[in-house]
Amino acid sequence: MTGYRLTVLAGDGTGPEVMAEALRVIDVFQQHSPVSFEITDIPCGGQYYLETGEEWPEGSFEHCRDNSDAILLGAIGWPGARLPNGDMAGGQVILGLRSGLRLYANVRPIKLYPGVQHKVHGVHQQVWQPEHVDMVMIRENTEGLYHSLLRRMEQKAKGEKDEPIVIEEFPGLDGEVAWDPRPISRKGSERVINFAFDLARHRENKLGTAQSVTCVDKSNVTRGCRLFRKIFTEISEANPDIDTDAAYIDAFTMWLMRNPEDLDVVVLPNMFGDIATDLASVLQGGLGMAASANMGPKHMMFEPVHGSAPKYTGQNVVNPIAMLQSVQLMFEALAYRKKDEDLDKCADILQQAIQQHFEEGEIVTYDLGGNASTSDVGEAIANRCENLIQQEFH
Ligand code: IPM
Ligand code: MN
Repeated sequence: MTGYRLTVLAGDGTGPEVMAEALRVIDVFQQHSPVSFEITDIPCGGQYYLETGEEWPEGSFEHCRDNSDAILLGAIGWPGARLPNGDMAGGQVILGLRSGLRLYANVRPIKLYPGVQHKVHGVHQQVWQPEHVDMVMIRENTEGLYHSLLRRMEQKAKGEKDEPIVIEEFPGLDGEVAWDPRPISRKGSERVINFAFDLARHRENKLGTAQSVTCVDKSNVTRGCRLFRKIFTEISEANPDIDTDAAYIDAFTMWLMRNPEDLDVVVLPNMFGDIATDLASVLQGGLGMAASANMGPKHMMFEPVHGSAPKYTGQNVVNPIAMLQSVQLMFEALAYRKKDEDLDKCADILQQAIQQHFEEGEIVTYDLGGNASTSDVGEAIANRCENLIQQEFH
């Protein structure tokens, strides 16, 4: 059997270190289960740009678009690596793909595993238990405040010319002004909000508990958010079986920390989703635990939410779980789209391996209070997967 075509973009800093663990785990599934992958590794990122003057080799975008069933991304971003126009070098990879492949839903699960401590410190240190934290944030991924940057990156990725930077006087303001438009469209909002409702229904089946969808915006102030909220209300009315709620982003951040048990699926415009998911990671043990899936109509890309963590580069100390959990999301999404029962079993196995790993709780990295290395954790998960595969498939 020819396998799934998997494109690997390890990228900057600690990206390659966590990616090595992802590949180690994927290899165990290739060796011992019926699933297989054809892997293409593409060098890319800010460091690659500093070395070569390119963010990735020519034709890489087309490879991701035309020859990949799924894309795995490590991390993009390196201090000082900037394009001549000031934009981040490597942006073409992460942002160019989000926009160019129409990956409109950025799915970010926030789940606290038994055995992991959340990072809300203070007197009530252990207030949140695993049963309180199990939600998924869906961040709109192609428009809003990111729109102009995403478009610039998409054009670069396709080899088109950058639009000129328009300098104009800004009404009502004096002197130098820099501004970013924040367009929010009906189409862009409908597809991501519908995605959120579909996911709520899917989770309801999987978890056996009724799920709700919460819309987070700033519709008391901005017109874009007003449209977003209006569409949310329309879609809520068309889905009366799903409970809904809505909040302004400022109050929501408080609610998130105070009552995470109230939240299931949360849908947010791009920049709010970027900020809220870093904050929410505190509830799940930190960014080292936070995984994500970028989903579009035809393509999918998976990446840890954390960045390249430059200061830890080369030390083999960062937590690879966010990356491994992203591989788990990839197995799950590919299995679902391709109706592949074997791969679905593999997704369950990897999920179980991660869960059991924390229940035992011995081999964890510094961010979770341990002193295991990146590769110790990867190896432990890989071994656990191998045992579980033997039980499941043989
Ligand atoms: C993320 C990151 C990116 C973003 C950066 C690296 C451009 O913070 O995936 O959340 O802002 O979307
Ligand atoms: Mn972010």
